Amino acid sequence: MSCKGKARETFGSRFAVIMAMAGSAIGLGNIWRFPYVVGEYGGAAFILVYVLCTFLLALPIFLSESIIGRRSGSNTFGAMEKLAPGTSWKWMGLLTVISPVVILSYYSVVGGWSVEYLFKSLAFEFTNTPADNVPRLFGTFITSSWEPLFMLGLFLMMVAGIVLAGVKSGIERFSKITMPVLFLLIVVMLVYSVTLPGSSEGVAYLLKPDFSKLSASAVAAAMGQAFFSLSLGVGTILTYSSYVRKDENLLVSGVGTGISDLLFALLAGFAVMPAVFACGVEPGAGPGLVFQTLPFIFNKMGAGAPLVSSLVAIVFFVTILVAALTSAISMMEVGVAYLVENRGFSRLTAVASIFCFALVVGALCSLSFGTLSDVKIFGNTIFDALDKLCSNFLMTFGGLLFTLFVGWKMKKADVEDELTNGGSLHHKSVFRVVYFLIRYVAPIAIIAIFITNLFL
Ligand code: PHE
Repeated sequence: MSCKGKARETFGSRFAVIMAMAGSAIGLGNIWRFPYVVGEYGGAAFILVYVLCTFLLALPIFLSESIIGRRSGSNTFGAMEKLAPGTSWKWMGLLTVISPVVILSYYSVVGGWSVEYLFKSLAFEFTNTPADNVPRLFGTFITSSWEPLFMLGLFLMMVAGIVLAGVKSGIERFSKITMPVLFLLIVVMLVYSVTLPGSSEGVAYLLKPDFSKLSASAVAAAMGQAFFSLSLGVGTILTYSSYVRKDENLLVSGVGTGISDLLFALLAGFAVMPAVFACGVEPGAGPGLVFQTLPFIFNKMGAGAPLVSSLVAIVFFVTILVAALTSAISMMEVGVAYLVENRGFSRLTAVASIFCFALVVGALCSLSFGTLSDVKIFGNTIFDALDKLCSNFLMTFGGLLFTLFVGWKMKKADVEDELTNGGSLHHKSVFRVVYFLIRYVAPIAIIAIFITNLFL
């Protein structure tokens, strides 16, 4: 069944647009990567560079995707067919249909871990297990075969359920309810964390500006982090923008999303690092931080007040789960929109197809921590290989093509028309600055990250 001819759904309000987009942006990248990278690359000095990267590099790419999405009112593939008919740009449209579905596969493995850890915290497992055994729970869990697969399936079912409900009743409604709650929960965590004895060292870790650590690789790290954190280069922002009404201000929703993402990353930093230091543990990034270090901290803190600490653990894993869900639905929607609009699938079959694909590829990624750990692709496990392929190459490549498309392929008048809603918004000079960033600054910066990633 094709939905051709049916009116396309749109987000109901500006608040809905920003919540959905912030939902896509705010995810594991904010919680387990940002706090660590900040400390690693010079604290406040890095934060400064990161803010600049968000607005000078990430925002122009974000706006490029927004302009293509809303102008075409179509999914990534359809957008290229509409705006550049008969050209090879459609292949880039197809690439950006495939890459988010691949990211969805391995991202959902971690989503599944957060479901498991939520169950563990609800069962008071962190406070009831001897401290030294708490970090080991993680290894035992991810190397076992069936449990992580079951959790992967459970996570993907939640994602599929929300996406199936549609843009308005599913994605919009879920994001509008959960995103404000997410901010509230991270603030609760932050208050708990900074009031622990010995937490001030963690605050210093994030704030002490160390300009000597601001190397070229720190700048590349800031750009890469901003890129991943704002979900750029894989068509999620393009697809969500295709549901934005014509009278909405794209610049305002872009800036709103950028600020929300930045604010959440900072709040997460101050929620996580002070607790890590209060416990005297080495900070690290990635799964270890969230699934080993923090449960260990919940255990330590639980010695005095097991109930409070268990509640904080529950709050924390709910936060991670919801953050991962709102990002994962944006990845699934890209593929669903393509299958429905260009391949004539019903929404149900489209969701089911992507669910099955992500389940199979996700299962391989999940097993690559145990049974399949010997299977290596260029020296990496299946999980790591897909992660590197997507976050180091496909995302940056996609971002580059989006900015080149808007900056060099589309007519300048059309870009201006879309960004200013037919000349009714902004001063001319605002458009000139944004256009300059899209045409020159962003592509050059992306090529720089690409080269740095290739050699590092
Ligand atoms: N921005 C998300 C995060 O920070 C990840 C993501 C990447 C989401 C690509 C959608 C698309 O976790």
